[in-house]
Amino acid sequence: MSRDPIVARNLPALRETLNIFRAASETVALVPTMGALHEGHLGLVREARRRCKRVAVSIFVNPTQFAPHEDFDSYPRTWDTDLAKLAEENVDLIWNPGVKIMYPDGFASRITTEGPAIVDLEDRFRPHFFGGVATVVGKLFIQCRPDIAVFGEKDYQQLRVVTQMARDLDLGVDVVGLATVRESDGLAMSSRNVYLSREERAIAPVLHRTMQDVATQLRAGTELAMVLAPAAARITEAGFALDYFEARHAETLQPIKSLQDGPVRLLVAAKIGTTRLIDNIGV
Ligand code: PAJ
Repeated sequence: MSRDPIVARNLPALRETLNIFRAASETVALVPTMGALHEGHLGLVREARRRCKRVAVSIFVNPTQFAPHEDFDSYPRTWDTDLAKLAEENVDLIWNPGVKIMYPDGFASRITTEGPAIVDLEDRFRPHFFGGVATVVGKLFIQCRPDIAVFGEKDYQQLRVVTQMARDLDLGVDVVGLATVRESDGLAMSSRNVYLSREERAIAPVLHRTMQDVATQLRAGTELAMVLAPAAARITEAGFALDYFEARHAETLQPIKSLQDGPVRLLVAAKIGTTRLIDNIGV
């Protein structure tokens, strides 16, 4: 049987509920999201449920991580179905602040991240992105003070950046990463997949298939330098405009020359039509 989560829309309401949990010495897991929830998000919620007594999910489409030309206004907002899904998962608390609660007039601070945030991957194509993510996630951690926070490997660089930030700033939050949840044809689930036309949706799994093939070749001993260019060409020929297809060190995200420099992560970002997709896998 599902029961309705408590919905907090301002800080006093959030604190009131969290104080009740803490007074009972209950552990709290936070799952930060921008809503438009799919099975990938729900996988994080279930992991949070396994690890902690109480589960809080934040739903906040964060304006500071979108550039002016990006899709902040059109980003899918599906409150009623999100609420129903979270009720079904027995989520205890939904933190759903308005933009003015998160960023009141006169707001003038920003968390700057280095290390995995400046490695020429997402940061090259979305220079504003990690500053916005780090600032909002830092605020969410401070507001909610969870024991753990669960993030998806789907946004792999984000996971590395948030893990680094939580450690560097002694935020006391254990950041847990969870494997990417995929459609049956391999496409990574994403709130932005709703933007894809039928034709684009049919092409989209090429990203995952190409990464899988590259990983297989690398494990079989083929040199890195031999596999990356053909993989990039395959993605472009399928109809994508490729931003990057790279093999990086899985923790630092620094460039590597061979599998021996690993653990290795393959990361890809490409646009099909107007929709930008990202994905990654371990080798
Ligand atoms: P959003 O894109 O809503 O994603 C919320 C969380 O769900 C992230 O940790 C993301 O990696 C994870 N996720 C998305 N698709 C997934 C999939 N297919 N499998 C597993 N996990 C998946 O990422 C953000 O929001 C924002 O940047 C946020 C961290 C909330 C800060 O605003």
